[in-house]
Amino acid sequence: MTVTLGHRRDAAWWKSAVVYQIYPRSFADSNGDGFGDLGGISTRLDYLRMLGVNVIWLSPIYPSPQADNGYDISDYRDIDPRFGTLAEFDALLAKVHGLGMKLVMDLVVNHTSDEHPWFVESRSSRHNPKRDWYIWRDAVDGVEPNNWGSFFSGSAWEWDEATDQYYLHLFDRKQPDLNWRNPQVRKAVQDIMVWWLDRGVDGFRMDVINFISKVDGMPDAPAIDGQRFSVAFEGFVDGPHVHEYLAEMTREVFGGRDGDYITVGEMPGASPEQARLYTDPARGELDMVFQFEHVSVDHGPAGKFDYVGRDLVALKKSLHRWQAALAETGWNSLYWNNHDQPRVVSRFGDDDAKYWAASAKALATVLHGMRGTPFVYQGEELAMTNYPFRIPHDHKDIEAVNFYDTVVESGGDEAAALAGLAKMSRDNARTPMQWDDGPNAGFTSGNPWLSVNPNYTWLNAAAQIADTDSVFAHYQTLIRLRHDLPILIDGEFAPLMEGDPQIWAYTRNTSTAKLLVIANCGREARTVEVGREWIAADLLLGNLPDAPAAISPSALELAGWDARIYYATALDSSRRPSNLN
Ligand code: NOJ
Repeated sequence: MTVTLGHRRDAAWWKSAVVYQIYPRSFADSNGDGFGDLGGISTRLDYLRMLGVNVIWLSPIYPSPQADNGYDISDYRDIDPRFGTLAEFDALLAKVHGLGMKLVMDLVVNHTSDEHPWFVESRSSRHNPKRDWYIWRDAVDGVEPNNWGSFFSGSAWEWDEATDQYYLHLFDRKQPDLNWRNPQVRKAVQDIMVWWLDRGVDGFRMDVINFISKVDGMPDAPAIDGQRFSVAFEGFVDGPHVHEYLAEMTREVFGGRDGDYITVGEMPGASPEQARLYTDPARGELDMVFQFEHVSVDHGPAGKFDYVGRDLVALKKSLHRWQAALAETGWNSLYWNNHDQPRVVSRFGDDDAKYWAASAKALATVLHGMRGTPFVYQGEELAMTNYPFRIPHDHKDIEAVNFYDTVVESGGDEAAALAGLAKMSRDNARTPMQWDDGPNAGFTSGNPWLSVNPNYTWLNAAAQIADTDSVFAHYQTLIRLRHDLPILIDGEFAPLMEGDPQIWAYTRNTSTAKLLVIANCGREARTVEVGREWIAADLLLGNLPDAPAAISPSALELAGWDARIYYATALDSSRRPSNLN
């Protein structure tokens, strides 16, 4: 069946877009309470215009007890007073639109807050009409109905004394899962979406949206040695009805609506094959998925805090696999960072002084050269680094705090836990945005809710805007290329040297032009044979000062963390894009 959707007016607009993610509590504070807000965002929109992005995604700004920094929503139709008011939101939206950008909201509807009125009603009695809006089960043999673990440690079930049943929460106990089998729940979510679209927003990023359909019977997950609970991916990832629910949502919400919208599904654990189904335009589900395979390659057998280090071949193979899988049908999103991932320059790059900028630019180059829609997370365009966490108390994030407490309670290795947290904690991404070298990096005049990274004295936006060779300037160029060069959108992707543990290289090809994207992802210089077909190519972009403008005769001398994009075309030179270096 082919579904015709009103919102496909310009089916491809988001294919040449670049999305910027704002984590509002850490972006800019306008009232000195140490907490970022809408007023702060409003004062920084010119910065985003200068960077060149055209879509802004806001992490949740709705009223929330903030158990999981706003991913626990207690009212979907208002703004948390910490962030501002609905009137301020409307003004911000108008300003964003006035600057020619779009605004995407975070839609968190796998779960609500336990303080949302729906849940308050649901837990009030077994007979309440909203009881079935959440997932309630009796105890089995006096304990939890199955061994499902929460992403934030411990069981995924919480006992409710008053009504003698457990409720499911894949995340914190303050984030009960909605029961999507109930059509009233689905309708309520659709109504929320329509409410925001009527207000003028341009789409949604949908939080863990491939978790909404749980498998029948919710059987035990395979046990992990020595652990009572394990996260039951097979019990809820890409579950039995998820495609049906998403197609219904898109039909009900966007059908007949005229506008250039964007929908992005956050999908941990989704396979490329599933992603193709979610994003096949003919199926009318979502525009693109946010997948997690490439940011899991450094996780050890015991999970993300069991950090095993960078494996470049595995990283390349993963991203390349997704390029291939969505080549004909569907669409990728491309990202290194978001509010849940450590800083990429500290993770897959080299944040020592000598290679900090070059490695950040090289990683940006290889990502932005691929097929898909790039997402830039606040501060990534400055190559902000991980925070030098030392003591448990440094971490504020519920995932980190619960993990550490569990290790301590079970007599585990505390030093190893702290080392894993330092490398992988989500708070690495959540330290305040570094605007300038003034107090608190220009983020707030008050006391920031999370410490500012001490490197703000030299690593900040003001310094980089003034420097034409900065990481910021490199991102500006990559973003401009995405908007201007059709080959970046449509060109076929072909990997080169996939087994090489240091060189990342691939081509993009159309019938009239080709690109070579090549980066040395290590400190040692390398000479790479790229073939005579590239001799006449032009250097479109490089990240080091002395990159040769042409390849001669067929080999490239790449210094440590050297990254380049070469362009060759069958067209005459007057129609080539100008050299952007
Ligand atoms: C994914 C979000 O990105 C993360 O920050 C959050 O903790 C979980 N979903 C639960 O909403």
